[in-house]
Amino acid sequence: MAEPLPRPELAAPAPGAVIPGTPGRPRHVAIIMDGNGRWATNRGWPRLVGHRKGAERVKQIVSACPDMGVDWLTLYAFSTENWKRTTEEVLGLMGIFARYIEREAGRMSAEGVRMRFIGEREKLNPKLRGLMDKIEITTSGNTRLNLTVGINYGGRDEIVRAAVRMAEKVRRGELGQDQCDSAAFAGCLDTAGHPDPDLVIRTSGETRVSNFLPWQAAYAEYEFTPTLWPDFSPAHLAEILDRFGNRDRRFGGV
Ligand code: IPE
Ligand code: IPE
Ligand code: MG
Repeated sequence: MAEPLPRPELAAPAPGAVIPGTPGRPRHVAIIMDGNGRWATNRGWPRLVGHRKGAERVKQIVSACPDMGVDWLTLYAFSTENWKRTTEEVLGLMGIFARYIEREAGRMSAEGVRMRFIGEREKLNPKLRGLMDKIEITTSGNTRLNLTVGINYGGRDEIVRAAVRMAEKVRRGELGQDQCDSAAFAGCLDTAGHPDPDLVIRTSGETRVSNFLPWQAAYAEYEFTPTLWPDFSPAHLAEILDRFGNRDRRFGGV
């Protein structure tokens, strides 16, 4: 087993909950939620029906995570490449994100969920951006689960923006050139302050990473499951988490 990573402050776990960070359990799980379109198409329904069903799954998985010992959950909701889809699908997805934030705000606070977003926000519509900014503030004191959602997120885009931020810090004299190491760079990423994911799960049977967390997941374990995201239940997640304990993470050691 690797040395446990330094842990951020966490609220006392709920009675009966698995203590977060239990050995053999991933504390940070990241999920590429794929397969919504196929789930709907298989039933002869519009793709957006699959996205709506997918959002229902997000609620269940978010609620289930703390009791499974997961205290960081990062979800890939919309990539920098997903703008290639039809206007109808893109606008439909943006509407689903906005409604999710509006309707789930109360439950997230009740369940101690801190919600944050990664990705480039300038391109998103102002209403959605406003909701994102607001929920980040209203849930900032919650500590039971750190939920981070990638919207207009692309790993390469994030790395380029981080490089610009780091160069700007050097230019302003806040960071010496000799201090430009990986820790300083990680602090310029959208995920600054997040631990690296221990486990990345992709649903729908595709075995690629599609520009998701390339820097942060450098040493993550991967699980690919054929289950389409709208069918992915907390029981599926529990099964994957159980298997994680059998992995030998060596981080380059022996
Ligand atoms: C994942 O499902 C959700 C997003 C990428 C927004 P897809 O929409 O990619 O579903 P498939 O892969 O076409 O089935
Ligand atoms: C990855 O899924 C992005 C999200 C899940 C948000 P895609 O469906 O966009 O990825 P590709 O096109 O199969 O690589
Ligand atoms: Mg897909």
